[in-house]
Amino acid sequence: MRFEKLLRPSVRGIKEYVPGKSIEEIALRYGLDPACIIKLGSNENPLGPSPRAVAAIKEKAGKVHLYPPSDAFELRKAISEFTGYPESNIVVSGNGMDGILDTMMRLFMPHGAEAVIPIPTFSYYEISTLANGGKPVFVERDRDFNVKPEAIFDKVNSNTRMIFLCSPNNPSGNAVSEKEVRKILDADAIVFVDEAYADFAKSSLNSLIREYDNLITGHTFSKLFGLAGMRLGYALVPEWLAKEYMKVMTPFSVDVLSLAAGIAALGDKDHLRRSIEMVRKGRIQLAGGLGSLCQVYPSEANFIMIDVAPRTAGEVSESLLQKGIIVRDCTSFRGAGNSLIRITVGTEEQNKRVIEALRSVL
Ligand SMILES: Cc1ncc(COP(=O)(O)O)c(C=O)c1O
Repeated sequence: MRFEKLLRPSVRGIKEYVPGKSIEEIALRYGLDPACIIKLGSNENPLGPSPRAVAAIKEKAGKVHLYPPSDAFELRKAISEFTGYPESNIVVSGNGMDGILDTMMRLFMPHGAEAVIPIPTFSYYEISTLANGGKPVFVERDRDFNVKPEAIFDKVNSNTRMIFLCSPNNPSGNAVSEKEVRKILDADAIVFVDEAYADFAKSSLNSLIREYDNLITGHTFSKLFGLAGMRLGYALVPEWLAKEYMKVMTPFSVDVLSLAAGIAALGDKDHLRRSIEMVRKGRIQLAGGLGSLCQVYPSEANFIMIDVAPRTAGEVSESLLQKGIIVRDCTSFRGAGNSLIRITVGTEEQNKRVIEALRSVL
């Protein structure tokens, strides 16, 4: 192609993001009834969105000819009430937490600078770094998928701008301790702690933003809040960083419907409580049902990771797909090997189906 030469060289090396499979795709491929397929591959909320969010979207549908407020002030105010941190520490994105990551890259990643990424982990850190002209530097996690501050510091140099920590980690489900994060925060770099799944965990690292000027905690409405389709994300950041973020974020990035849905979802405490309870019970159900069949890793997230060795994740997830169960084959995660599968915690009924299916497949 004549104009390919104009591409930034770093873009050529990017491996495309591999999303979880959709119900439509699997129904078509295997000739299955979409109603019988269960989707446990993308860590969405099986209870669906809050009914209050759905009502808010309907109510605002007639207003989409108007621009939303450019700084999403009402949403930031609602997040402030929900989290207990002032609006001056809150930034938002109308493209999920992925959008937050991209904006942070625009702020901190000059051409050729480095981002330290413990693997296996969420792949968009790598893609976003490369897309912005940066260089991802990988650190292998240990056998239990923990990452030691010393291993991170081995990779930090004067060229490092960002360090990514996913807690609880996708796909392994384990969280990083506050003590270790405090050590890592001594680095001369921005530390991005991705807390997409922290709503399901024992604790969050949010409170550290009061102490550290180089900490970002990233959050999403896609998991607990059941709004993955609205693409809403937010982050808690030090005040100086919020001001810079506002300068470079896409104007009007949070649309009218997402804004209304986000505010309503934050207010629906009953939906949030039921969702968290379902995940806590479901993790125990899955671990109990699968523990005798394969290795199950402890999880603080709304998914669990299993190791199906000596079988491969590819063949096992394929067998599950044929039974109408979508799980995540982790082979595409850098450094994950080929026998790990991630399963979103579903409803009690869905979990039962996964356990039965895996019992017959394994
Ligand atoms: C760890 C992690 N961070 C961020 C995201 C992206 O979230 P969002 O849907 O808000 O872009 C995901 C999505 O799966 C994730 O697993």
